[in-house]
Amino acid sequence: MEQLTIPNTSLKVSRLCAGCMGLGGGWTTDHVLTPEDERQARGFLDAALALGINFFDHANIYARGRAEEAFGKVMRERAGLREKIVIQSKCGIRWADDPQGTPQRFDFSAQSIVESVDGSLRRLGTDYLDILLLHRPDVLWEGEEIARAFDALKRAGKVRYFGVSNQNRFQMEYLQSFLPGPLVANQLQMSLLHHGFAEVGISFNQAAPGYPDGWEGVLEYCRLKGVGLQAWSPLDRGALTGSARSNLSESAQKTAALVKQYAQARGLPAEAVALAWLLKHPARIVPILGTTRPDRLAACARSLEVNLTREEWYTLFEAARGRPMP
Ligand SMILES: NC(=O)c1ccc[n+]([C@@H]2O[C@H](COP(=O)([O-])OP(=O)(O)OC[C@H]3O[C@@H](n4cnc5c(N)ncnc54)[C@H](OP(=O)(O)O)[C@@H]3O)[C@@H](O)[C@H]2O)c1
Repeated sequence: MEQLTIPNTSLKVSRLCAGCMGLGGGWTTDHVLTPEDERQARGFLDAALALGINFFDHANIYARGRAEEAFGKVMRERAGLREKIVIQSKCGIRWADDPQGTPQRFDFSAQSIVESVDGSLRRLGTDYLDILLLHRPDVLWEGEEIARAFDALKRAGKVRYFGVSNQNRFQMEYLQSFLPGPLVANQLQMSLLHHGFAEVGISFNQAAPGYPDGWEGVLEYCRLKGVGLQAWSPLDRGALTGSARSNLSESAQKTAALVKQYAQARGLPAEAVALAWLLKHPARIVPILGTTRPDRLAACARSLEVNLTREEWYTLFEAARGRPMP
């Protein structure tokens, strides 16, 4: 699989990243990892590796820690694998009742960041994360405190690089101003049906509906500074590629039909075209795939065979936005 070097790092990663949110048996509090959960993780990891995917996205909260746990169990069965793959995890979202009686909240305190990483390392069975992302902005954050936590983690060899997720340009700039090293990633929801990142580029200065607040300058800032862009939910959870969703808007239905048409013309699965739309963007957006199924991972990998024409790209965009270009 095609690889790229994440800017400002020595990390060579596959063009597609495998998201691990679907591992670990779901989100309920009382679930304990089962042999079936481990089988799923084994099948997922082996399929990803066979396709040339070496980049894996986690979070401390996925399946309440069990996604990292399941992944860690399988990784320990594969001698020497850790050094061959790039593991990213996240911190900063805290469930209610952690500890008992507390509300759900965001927590970028130094103590919470460091403790979260220690938990991820324990569950994954590794000494280090390649990348740590702050999951969702904490309203009560302090740049100095985050910088202290990052410094401690870096010095201890527990995290190699740091990034963010779901942050706008000003939040990135604010945080960066406290850090000695560059933020290397921003993971955002980007897809054909969540196309604010593209809409912002064309609807400025237009008296048109749908101007996507918050996206101003995000792509340009990241491209100028070398912050890698990552897309979560790149397939809109299967909305355009055959998942049984009855509540698709008219524009989404039209987009799904076009995706299917372009895919059939190439003899490829619909996933390949939906992802190719993101891959075409010159910012080299890395899709974070959400499937855990080997067959769907393989279908997604075929996106690297597609080079949409500019005309196809805009036809898909126009269908998804539901109105003509300005
Ligand atoms: N930073 C953040 O805030 C954030 C938020 C959400 C997710 N993430 C990351 O992004 C990754 C991807 O997110 P996502 O799971 O929402 O991505 P996605 O690729 O858009 O959706 C994949 C999900 O949709 C399901 N699906 C059902 N039918 C499908 C079909 N026909 N085609 C494709 N998928 C279908 C998949 O199930 P199967 O497993 O059965 O294929 C899987 O659960 C996650 O694993 C996580 O690592 C980050």
